[in-house]
Amino acid sequence: MINMKISNIGVSFQNKTVLKDISAVLKGGELTSIIGPNGTGKTTLIKSIARLIKSRGDVVLTDSHGNSLSKNSIAYVPQMSTTTTELSVFEMVLLGRVKDLTWKVEKHHIDAVTQMLKDLGLLSLSYFPFCKLSGGQRQLVTMAQALVSKPKVLLLDEPTSALDLRHQLQVLDIAQQYTKQTGAITLVVLHDLALVARYSDNILLLHDGKIVKKGLPKDVLDPNLLQEVYKVEVDVSVSNGGYTTVTPIRPIIPIRSSIVC
Ligand SMILES: Nc1ncnc2c1ncn2[C@@H]1O[C@H](COP(=O)(O)OP(=O)(O)OP(=O)(O)O)[C@@H](O)[C@H]1O
Ligand SMILES: [Mg+2]
Repeated sequence: MINMKISNIGVSFQNKTVLKDISAVLKGGELTSIIGPNGTGKTTLIKSIARLIKSRGDVVLTDSHGNSLSKNSIAYVPQMSTTTTELSVFEMVLLGRVKDLTWKVEKHHIDAVTQMLKDLGLLSLSYFPFCKLSGGQRQLVTMAQALVSKPKVLLLDEPTSALDLRHQLQVLDIAQQYTKQTGAITLVVLHDLALVARYSDNILLLHDGKIVKKGLPKDVLDPNLLQEVYKVEVDVSVSNGGYTTVTPIRPIIPIRSSIVC
């Protein structure tokens, strides 16, 4: 089983500390959600793990024999893809295989990309330019690109933010299945706490650059804790179908103290 040990990660930008002493152990086959208010350091943490930005501390990724795994084992899907490429959807997804490609693209790569496009309902867009896609379609394509690379670690930053209800479930179902079937470590940044409750094995709750709580959904999705961190009154309950629902009720500190008409 693969294992990731994050020890005392810290990040500062122009002398401003945005992440402090982040430590956690993540196990293969588990999907962990990172939650917390805007600007609290979620993207910075994911980028540090992907080794895209410099950080203090250590991230050690090992396989079942204790051997270190390289950066190539990690796939990162950014919060917002601003790529302006003329490449087609098919070519963009094929780029996920770039580390294995030779001058002639072998059939098994073509088949893997075709299957992934089918799974995500994107096959009819195969030859459409990526730069002309809608925000949600871009999110699906970047997810497809990450998955065809068969990562050992899948890092998804708000992968559902531009998606409709059906596609939100589809993307998280696929991420969950991939995690269980391959034993990968998946980290997902999410704002929708109902989706967090539905899909997470574990949750890291960040506030002001620190982990304030990590653990099982039932322990982290505590109304008092969420109220303290998000400054909103929330209701956490279990629906008739047995699903945990997190309903935001009202902000505790008014967002605007007076509205002038
Ligand atoms: N390159 C940078 N230079 C300076 N400050 C930065 C840089 N990147 C991020 N920050 C700051 O670090 C803090 C954390 O940003 P980050 O993007 O990690 O937040 P986040 O939790 O992902 O927020 P959101 O939910 O809005 O996506 C913010 O105050 C942000 O302004
Ligand atoms: Mg972010």
